[in-house]
Amino acid sequence: PAPPRLALRGDLLDFTGTPGWGEVDSPAVRFRPDHWLLVEGGRIAGAVPAADGLPPDWAAAERHDHAGRLVLPGFTDTHVHSPQLDVIASYGTELLDWLNTYTFPAERRYADPAVAAEGAALFCDALLAAGTTSAVVFPTVHKVSAEALFAAAEARGMRLVAGKVLMDRHAPDGLRDDVAQAERDCIDLIGRWHGRGRSAYAVTVRFAPTSTPAQLAMAGALCRADPTLYMQTHVAENRAEVQWVAELFPEARSYLDVYARAGLLHRRSVLAHGIWLDDADRAALREAGAQVAHSPSSNLFLGSGLFGWRALEAAGGAVSVASDVGGGTGLSMLRTLGDAYKVQAMAGERLTAWKGLHAATLGAAEALDLAGEIGSLEAGRLADVCVWDWAAGPVAERRQAVARSLHEKVFAWMTLGDERNLAACWVAGVPRLPRPPGQPR
Ligand code: GUN
Ligand code: ZN
Repeated sequence: PAPPRLALRGDLLDFTGTPGWGEVDSPAVRFRPDHWLLVEGGRIAGAVPAADGLPPDWAAAERHDHAGRLVLPGFTDTHVHSPQLDVIASYGTELLDWLNTYTFPAERRYADPAVAAEGAALFCDALLAAGTTSAVVFPTVHKVSAEALFAAAEARGMRLVAGKVLMDRHAPDGLRDDVAQAERDCIDLIGRWHGRGRSAYAVTVRFAPTSTPAQLAMAGALCRADPTLYMQTHVAENRAEVQWVAELFPEARSYLDVYARAGLLHRRSVLAHGIWLDDADRAALREAGAQVAHSPSSNLFLGSGLFGWRALEAAGGAVSVASDVGGGTGLSMLRTLGDAYKVQAMAGERLTAWKGLHAATLGAAEALDLAGEIGSLEAGRLADVCVWDWAAGPVAERRQAVARSLHEKVFAWMTLGDERNLAACWVAGVPRLPRPPGQPR
């Protein structure tokens, strides 16, 4: 259980609003150097300058002095596949071949409860080791894989949005459900996990090609019956995929429209990728209040394309960031943001550290309707808090030593940092770093 009172000292960084493009000095950034963050009953209670000392009634609090380190809200990874740690870094294919060659065979193993439990534990520990305390996750088509994932996240106190994957066609034996069984499994899992502790259920359509129209309709009906459910899927990731969807659903105006017509596009929809969208799609995303989970590492690794972050935001759409492991090559949100910068550079835009870090914290929290619980160091939020070394190793140390402005320092940290920088991590006020600081897993 969380200690009744906890005080964490360091340089506090979070956001109170949305930073604008190109805004290196942004009023949305809240940087409080050398403060004590006060945590009570697993929730953030406030913060005081370390120079003032702890308030008198906090004298007995458990203290963790991380002076000289950076303290942020835990990251939220809005799109990641728990079973795909087994196929991360697989050579040589684009999306559709990658699924058939590597991913589908690996996911079949998750029918086995022992494999599902072991994989879920490894996955949740690896998220925590990367400073990710909340995630929106695809397990596999097997009900038992969703059970195992919810149980592993609950055991670690993490915020999890997940659901059993729906796929009833265009997938190998052992990896397909059918409409009736899938509906029963979803209803059962929703009853067990949706709103239990920090877990929420997402109706999880893998992507349009692997669901029949009847299954999409069933998924849409689940969403309509309970608007507090999330929906997660993939959209417009790869050009061959987009072409295939156009052939499978000739009646739809676009790939995104397949989901809209089925009732799957709403405030709690999380759509990964969204690279090949048009203006009408962007308007539909805004109207629905849905978000795109931008997955830059995956988009680079699978050669999928360059996401138009600024265009979607300009159209009023919400953007979060995601590792998309195993298409992405690591769970570190810092590395993911480093890749996001590079993708935007290729697309002719410049992503500030503020925009990147906001999308991985408060921005994701707001898009998920969870800003009352996660995403900032504001009083009342659960104490999902990570402590980071500004530098790991001599190159980053040198870069930090010569940096002048706050943005320069934080941008270098974001670009050069990864799991090695993580010094400590609390989830709802409970220490959860599954390894000693500075030691790789
Ligand atoms: N589209 C359908 N399934 C997947 C998946 O597992 N990963 C990625 N990146 N795209 C997908
Ligand atoms: Zn994915």
